[in-house]
Amino acid sequence: MQKPRVYITRVLPAKGMQLIQDHCQMEVWPDELPPSREEILTRVPGVAGILSLLTDKIDAEVMKAAGSQLRVISNYAVGYNNIDIKAATERGIAVGNTPGILTDATADFAFALMLTVGRRILEAARTVRSGQWQTWGPSILLGSDFVGATLGLIGFGRIGHAMAKRASGFDMRVLYSDAGAEPAYDAKAAHLDTLLRESDFISLHVPLTADTHHLISTSAFEKMKSNAILINTARGEIVDPAALYDALKNRRIFGAALDVTEPEPLPMDSPLLELDNLIICPHIASASVITRENMAIKAVQNLLAGIRGEPLPNIVNPQIYE
Ligand code: DGY
Repeated sequence: MQKPRVYITRVLPAKGMQLIQDHCQMEVWPDELPPSREEILTRVPGVAGILSLLTDKIDAEVMKAAGSQLRVISNYAVGYNNIDIKAATERGIAVGNTPGILTDATADFAFALMLTVGRRILEAARTVRSGQWQTWGPSILLGSDFVGATLGLIGFGRIGHAMAKRASGFDMRVLYSDAGAEPAYDAKAAHLDTLLRESDFISLHVPLTADTHHLISTSAFEKMKSNAILINTARGEIVDPAALYDALKNRRIFGAALDVTEPEPLPMDSPLLELDNLIICPHIASASVITRENMAIKAVQNLLAGIRGEPLPNIVNPQIYE
C-alpha cells in the first residue's frame, strides 16, 4: 500500500524525521529559512498532512491548494496563531500543537531573562570586556532584589504555573491575571490593573489573540512601577513596540527582555536596538536539546494520528469530532 504524502516545512530533530519516514512519503523543505509562500502553495497539493513551524502561515488558501484529502495540520509549537483555525475547522481538518513539552524550557528561559535584566548581567559583562572594571564599589551596577519582590504573571496556564513554581524558590510574591485559572504555588489572582501597579517583574504567558494584541501598550506602561521589568517569551504582538520604546527610552520602567518581537526577525533599523535597558533574543525560549526533540516526536504523533483519521494526542480544534 502506498504511504500517505505529507509536506514538512523544515528539517526536524532526527527522531521525528525517522518516525515520519517510517509511515509517510514525505517532502521536506531543506533550508533553515522558511519556505516562501509560493513554495508552500506548490508543494501541498495532494498531501494528507502538513507539519508546519510557527513561521509558516497556513491559511485557507494553503488548505484549498492542498485539496480535500488534507486531514491534519500539525504545528511544531504550542502557539498556533500562524494557522487559520476557523478555516481548518470548517474543512474538518485537525490542527495539532505541542503543549506541555516546552513548559519548563520556556519558564527557565523567562526566569533567566528576569535575572539577567534585574541583575544587569549583560551590562556587567560588557563593563569587564570594555576595560571599564576599575574597582569594587558599594554603588556599582546595583540591580533588583528578587526575595520579597512581586512577580506578575499575565496568563496562568502551564508556563505561568512553571514560573510561579520557580518564583516560590526565590521567595517572591506572585500575582496572576487569568480569568479561567485556578490558584497554584501560592500565587494570588489579581485584576490586570492591580498586577501592573504592584509587580516588580511582569512576565507574559498568554496566547496571541485579538484580545491580547498590544495588550501591553502605553496605558499599561503608565500603570507600571518605575523599577518594573517586563519579560515577553509569548508572542511579540502582545507588546506594542512603540509604547515599549517610549517606556524604556524615558526610563518609565527599569528594563525589559524580549524573546519574541513584532515582527520576527526584528529589522536591524528597529529603534528598539538602540536601547541599553532592553535585551532581545531570537525566539529561543524552547531551544533546548531534549525539548526540541520531544516537540518533534509530539508533532509527528499528531501528524500520524491525523492522517490515520484518529484523534490527535493534542488537538486545537476538537469541534471537528463533534
Ligand atoms: C511555541 O511553541 O509556540 C514557542 O513559541 C516556540 O518556542
